Amino acid sequence: MGNPAITSSSDLDQYLKSQEDKGMLRFITCGSVDDGKSTLIGRLLWDSKLLFEDQLATLTAESKRVGTQGGDIDYALLLDGLQAEREQGITIDVAYRFFATDKRKFIVADTPGHEQYTRNMVTGASTADLAVILVDARKGILTQTMRHSFLVSLLGIKQVVLAVNKMDLVEYDQEIFETLLGDYEAFAAQLGFDAIQAIPLSALEGDNITSVSDKTPWYRGPTLLDHLETVGIDEDREGKPFRLPVQWVNRPNLDFRGFSGTIASGSIKVGDGIVEPASGRTSTVKEIVTLDGNLDEAFAGQAVTITLTDEIDISRGDMLCSLQHRPATADQFEAKLVWMTEEELLPSRNYILKLGTSTTTARVSALKYKVNVNTLERMAAKTLSLNEIGICNLALDKAISFDPYADNRETGSFILIDRFTNATVGAGVIDFALRRADNIHWQSVDIHKEARSSQKGQKASVLWFTGLSGSGKSTIANLVEKKLHSLGKHTYLLDGDNVRHGLNKDLGFTDADRVENIRRVGETAKLFVDAGLITLVSFISPFRSERQMARGLLEDGEFLEVFVDTPLEVCEERDIKGLYAKARAGEIKNFTVIDSAYERPENAEITIEGASQPPEESADAIIQYLKSEGFI
Ligand code: ADX
Repeated sequence: MGNPAITSSSDLDQYLKSQEDKGMLRFITCGSVDDGKSTLIGRLLWDSKLLFEDQLATLTAESKRVGTQGGDIDYALLLDGLQAEREQGITIDVAYRFFATDKRKFIVADTPGHEQYTRNMVTGASTADLAVILVDARKGILTQTMRHSFLVSLLGIKQVVLAVNKMDLVEYDQEIFETLLGDYEAFAAQLGFDAIQAIPLSALEGDNITSVSDKTPWYRGPTLLDHLETVGIDEDREGKPFRLPVQWVNRPNLDFRGFSGTIASGSIKVGDGIVEPASGRTSTVKEIVTLDGNLDEAFAGQAVTITLTDEIDISRGDMLCSLQHRPATADQFEAKLVWMTEEELLPSRNYILKLGTSTTTARVSALKYKVNVNTLERMAAKTLSLNEIGICNLALDKAISFDPYADNRETGSFILIDRFTNATVGAGVIDFALRRADNIHWQSVDIHKEARSSQKGQKASVLWFTGLSGSGKSTIANLVEKKLHSLGKHTYLLDGDNVRHGLNKDLGFTDADRVENIRRVGETAKLFVDAGLITLVSFISPFRSERQMARGLLEDGEFLEVFVDTPLEVCEERDIKGLYAKARAGEIKNFTVIDSAYERPENAEITIEGASQPPEESADAIIQYLKSEGFI
């Protein structure tokens, strides 16, 4: 194939540069464990003599050490990740390989086949033009095959190769191949692929990988490599509207203000008009600055700094866009969401949404349904578990600019991040913006919180009591309210048991329902604070994420967390409502601490030792605190 020897990875840059004028195909391989995926790619690279020499030396040694081919070259090892993972017999994470032939260069994302690694597949597939879906000729179409195909279609890949591997183990039987293809086409009809190319092959024997096999005379199609070299690529990032997500504002001195980032799609010329869609501000490109000097024109994939003819206020996370083709700007949209972590999705919980360079707080405001990936059926759902895919509405704390994924993969996909662990918990593709907020505006009112609370001679605030059922929080909250009342203060007590009789009547005690329970009472408490009241909230509120959310709804200093720290043994012994006995007997499910989590507060303003401190004393201590901090 005429590839120069690349003796170390440091030659890679130069190598890629020399390949720049060839077309590029990005593809992903997907298959179940033992389908022979790693062997296939290893074989493709080997037969094309495309391996880096350092990789080759390692491969020969490693094959002897841990190979599964009795000391012969084990192609699968080429693709495996870290040694430790290799020794456990699994591969994790996406491995990218570069190779080139005379006709084309390739980037292949290899992703493990284990069901729990859907997340890696989503990562690897999001830029791919084509997917090679591997099946074992002996096993036919498996659940995994359908899952992978569905994900591939979800990620907008239109070209599929159905690589029917291990044909050597079924005597290169044409009927087996055709039945399998028929099954696959029947399933894939719903997925909207442009083309499915099925190829009978044996990765181990090298049939139909780079050269036509004489064992399959009945097959008239291309070899895998032929197909990869010639298949049409229609993903045209440069032809799309201009989008530059701003990575940072470059302001070395007062005379220079540039907006830096990598062009996500389209191209830009000096003199072109641009818009920052969130503010609607427009300007004209003055210069396009790069490390290699100024350019007249720049394209998708290039890292640039753009200066404008006008001083407009743009910051990190904003997007510079073509004037003629503006993206959507909205704080709500519908999306397909892939859940990627063991902890289930909790609609109403705040997550960090990252799209391009912008980040904002967001939550799933409606989970419409999830998709059964085996049958593509829609199923009702309250949450999503690992690897599940749901269609949902998301609500963001601020409007951001984006495109529907079908129009632009770069600016139409996002990830969700857990606010405490910083782990990526979900990945999504946007269907469309929801316009429901467009015609709702803030109505201005003349009497404000300050006026209301000063009339009452107090500082409006929330006293948020958290603790186990039976910890005594409602008793103490009730005493505090009585004391405030007798001092002439204006108060309201929101108690879990009471609010659950009305506003939150529809909610139970699953994690998802508790999250929504706290979201609603948090919003209600915010309204009461706005009314100028000292608001007491007494809810178990077991999750720190939602207590944090409630705190975040208020201004600094308005939220006082009161942790009524009573040990389980004490609460259980009291068992005033008899609920612990029922929970222990299995009559009540999801009971806090028994079989549902309670996350202790770490930075509560006030902590009460519920076992040793009499309620009267605790209430006095809280009143004292309010006085000394100037609330009353
Ligand atoms: S929270 O977890 O969602 O904040 P909330 O404070 O509204 O709970 O309601 C707790 C009250 O509901 C408890 O004091 C108890 O009386 C009652 N309850 C009924 N079932 C459960 C349960 N499974 N877990 C906890 N409390 C329960």
